[in-house]
Amino acid sequence: MRFGFLYQHPWIYDLALYGLYHGDPHARFKQVANEIPKGASVVDLCAGTSFLFRQLQEKCPNYQAFDINPRLVKHLQKRGINAHSFDVRTDAIPQADVVTMCSSLYHFHPNCKDIIQQMQNSAREKVIVLEPVHNAKNSRFAFMRLLGAQAGIVDGKINEFYFSPDAFQDLIHHTSGFQKVAPAGDGRDMLAIFDGHASTTSEPSPQTPAYS
Ligand SMILES: C[S@@+](CC[C@H](N)C(=O)[O-])C[C@H]1O[C@@H](n2cnc3c(N)ncnc32)[C@H](O)[C@@H]1O
Repeated sequence: MRFGFLYQHPWIYDLALYGLYHGDPHARFKQVANEIPKGASVVDLCAGTSFLFRQLQEKCPNYQAFDINPRLVKHLQKRGINAHSFDVRTDAIPQADVVTMCSSLYHFHPNCKDIIQQMQNSAREKVIVLEPVHNAKNSRFAFMRLLGAQAGIVDGKINEFYFSPDAFQDLIHHTSGFQKVAPAGDGRDMLAIFDGHASTTSEPSPQTPAYS
């Protein structure tokens, strides 16, 4: 299977998030949106079904979603969202005022610090990383453990790594430009903010490919 069943259909993913976050998957995305200035351009990496867009559509019309899963990208495009197929591991991150990544950094272990630095190089103002640190894989409920395991199956690869609170704190405190961290999602997640390093005067990078 190229993607875990969690990622087979947007409805499955959305339903799972309602279950995981006790009926309110939106609260932690509201927290992310609160960190984004009105009118800022946003590049949202690993956007999934784009819960973040739902919080930003009025406030930040210049929002772009990027994801490796073509099914999810097509779903977003059908909803009129500016969405693109994209592999964070290999593609150059387009410039924006704010670059975000929600619930996805674990996919890039052991290169998470490098990915954050690449995000910083493309962000003119800030980088926002929201990450689960109490994972469904450790739940006492078998169904939740199954969901957690399925969330690690992407592009034909199984990822066994998930952050603990200590591992996430260790990573962010050893990443230059780290600003602050706060609990999110009822304490299941952490929200970390970093400086952006991209020049504030430059236009989108010339090496930015034309995404479809
Ligand atoms: C747990 S979901 C998070 C989705 C969304 N950000 C959210 O918080 O609801 C992880 C997402 O990362 C995407 N993803 C995994 N590896 C990727 C990669 N190398 N490049 C781009 N997207 C990737 C998956 O397709 C999936 O949509």
